Amino acid sequence: MTERIAATDDLAACHALRRAVFMEEQGFSEAEEFDDLDPVCTHLLATDDGRPVGTARTYVDGTVGKIGRVCVLPSHRGTGLGARLILAALDELRQRGGLSVVRVSAQVHALPFYERFGFVAHGPEYLDGTVPHRDMDLPI
Ligand code: COA
Repeated sequence: MTERIAATDDLAACHALRRAVFMEEQGFSEAEEFDDLDPVCTHLLATDDGRPVGTARTYVDGTVGKIGRVCVLPSHRGTGLGARLILAALDELRQRGGLSVVRVSAQVHALPFYERFGFVAHGPEYLDGTVPHRDMDLPI
């Protein structure tokens, strides 16, 4: 296995992964999954021997860096790939400079996953689609 995580222009590959995980597996609608932020985001793509297996996106809103649409194919979960995607996204945001905090809108089941990096949940639980979420912040 040769794993690579890098910024990509291959939005079709990222979208195919997000379609498989967020729409087919988790039940988000097309309108919920594909918002108007993709054109302003940096997209990270993880490949295994050239095959797309995970993705995430980053963007900046003022001094807040955002990480979202983090997903790994079921075949590659539990291998540390999700963690490596988060670290790559944090690196990408740090390189931009001028940020005070990184924020994720975390599905509630994934709170412990983000807590491992130091993200802290704040504010109320809310629904995105039918899935409960909370905002989590990591000062940088
Ligand atoms: N809840 C709690 N802990 C989790 C977790 C979850 N949903 N997913 C992973 N972890 C833990 C793992 O047990 C692991 O701990 P360990 O190092 O003690 O074994 C650690 O976090 C790192 O796991 P890792 O292997 O890097 O994660 P992954 O490759 O399985 O990817 C997700 C994690 C969440 C990206 C993946 O499960 C996924 O794509 N889920 C569906 C999409 C999704 O829910 N995305 C998050 C939206 S906020």
